[in-house]
Amino acid sequence: MFIIVHGLFAITIASIICVAFILGGNNGTIDGQGETWWKMFRNKELNYTRGYLIELMYCKQVLISNITLVNSPSWNVHPVYSSHVIVSGITILAPVNSPNTDGIDPDSSSNVRIEDCYIVSGDDCIAIKSGWDEYGIAFNMSSKHIVIRRLTCISPTSAVIALGSEMSGGIQDVRAEDITAIHSESGVRIKTTIGRGAYVKDIFVRRMNLHTMKWVFWMTGTYGQHPDDKFDPKAIPVVQNISYSNVVAENVTMAAKLEGIPGAPFTGICIYNVTAEVVKSKKPIWNCTDVEGVSSHVTPTPCAQIPEYPDRITHCPFPEDDLPVNGVGLEECAYQRAKP
Ligand SMILES: *[C@@H]1O[C@H](CO)[C@@H](O)[C@H](O)[C@H]1NC(C)=O
Ligand SMILES: *[C@@H]1O[C@H](CO)[C@@H](O)[C@H](O)[C@H]1NC(C)=O
Ligand SMILES: *[C@@H]1O[C@H](CO)[C@@H](O)[C@H](O)[C@H]1NC(C)=O
Ligand SMILES: *[C@@H]1O[C@H](CO)[C@@H](O)[C@H](O)[C@H]1NC(C)=O
Ligand SMILES: *[C@@H]1O[C@H](CO)[C@@H](O)[C@H](O)[C@H]1NC(C)=O
Ligand SMILES: *[C@@H]1O[C@H](CO)[C@@H](O)[C@H](O)[C@H]1NC(C)=O
Ligand SMILES: *[C@@H]1O[C@H](CO)[C@@H](O)[C@H](O)[C@H]1NC(C)=O
Repeated sequence: MFIIVHGLFAITIASIICVAFILGGNNGTIDGQGETWWKMFRNKELNYTRGYLIELMYCKQVLISNITLVNSPSWNVHPVYSSHVIVSGITILAPVNSPNTDGIDPDSSSNVRIEDCYIVSGDDCIAIKSGWDEYGIAFNMSSKHIVIRRLTCISPTSAVIALGSEMSGGIQDVRAEDITAIHSESGVRIKTTIGRGAYVKDIFVRRMNLHTMKWVFWMTGTYGQHPDDKFDPKAIPVVQNISYSNVVAENVTMAAKLEGIPGAPFTGICIYNVTAEVVKSKKPIWNCTDVEGVSSHVTPTPCAQIPEYPDRITHCPFPEDDLPVNGVGLEECAYQRAKP
């Protein structure tokens, strides 16, 4: 099946299984009319979860471009069990107090490229996920090879990019660059908890410009939130090989809260060339527990767990190889219908 949707149209919620899907337009708008749903959710009147605005399941070769999505009932774009997904030049707008209106959530999906997007949201602008506790471990489908570039985000109560908290299929090889955030809670945040199993590894972030943030760096190994009490307490997630470089942040409350898992620390954290202008902090500017790493050229001075080696650390890794999804584009073509 090959589906092409072009221009303005009037669906509100789409759930699609497909081989190739192109949703593009001259900046048409899809209005999810979420207000009714948010009200019912807040009043606990819903017996079922809310729908997502665009949900793509088991899709290969997807392009979503040049559209505006407003007022989604819940998440806006949810590619799940999908691959080769490009989201380019889209605008997502939801009131900053609307519940769970995540922007784009690649979920157990690989080779995903998200670029030139502007997102204002009541939850994470982007959240990468891969399954929840014992169900995600059994299904075992990771999210990997994900490129995010030139993202602008406003998310006062959530992350610019969240990894997790559902990550039980694993999250690997995420490359984020040229990220701008205005008034957001945290930058690229890792969220996990005992019972999730799997891993979050090989995460690379460079060139973030952050204005008005609660935390520049935030990792949480005790997130909690289980679907039920059948999770395996021995399923300890591994978090390793996480790099952040060239970050400028102003008007931040705390530089970092890095909290690993007792007995299973988050390792291989590298932080390089960061300037955070911290204002009005009563709490410690860096609070680190159960994490290990290195840093260099970071202001204010990091915690003892991420010591500075200004001479030895001259950069943090960022892979230079090109992912297959990087070069994909649309071929231009035209046809003319024969006159009858
Ligand atoms: C939820 O279920 C209750 C009890 O069955 C029912 O009265 C109510 O109308 C349902 N709410 C919605 C939004 O369907
Ligand atoms: C999206 O818009 C940009 C800028 O107008 C244009 O260059 C690009 O070709 C458009 N992409 C698609 C797939 O329509
Ligand atoms: C998940 O799949 C990978 C291979 O794709 C395998 O190496 C790993 O052991 C699997 N994990 C679990 C928990 O089944
Ligand atoms: C971190 O990831 C990079 C890129 O995949 C890889 O080259 C490097 O070996 C990894 N480092 C560790 C310590 O796993
Ligand atoms: C700085 O951040 C505070 C919230 O912590 C906000 O109220 C204030 O407007 C911000 N100042 C500027 C100049 O953005
Ligand atoms: C440090 O980061 C700043 C801001 O992103 C950038 O302009 C500068 O070139 C970086 N310096 C090095 C040595 O990478
Ligand atoms: C630092 O973080 C730990 C773990 O989250 C927390 O228990 C502790 O209260 C924090 N310390 C301060 C001084 O805020």
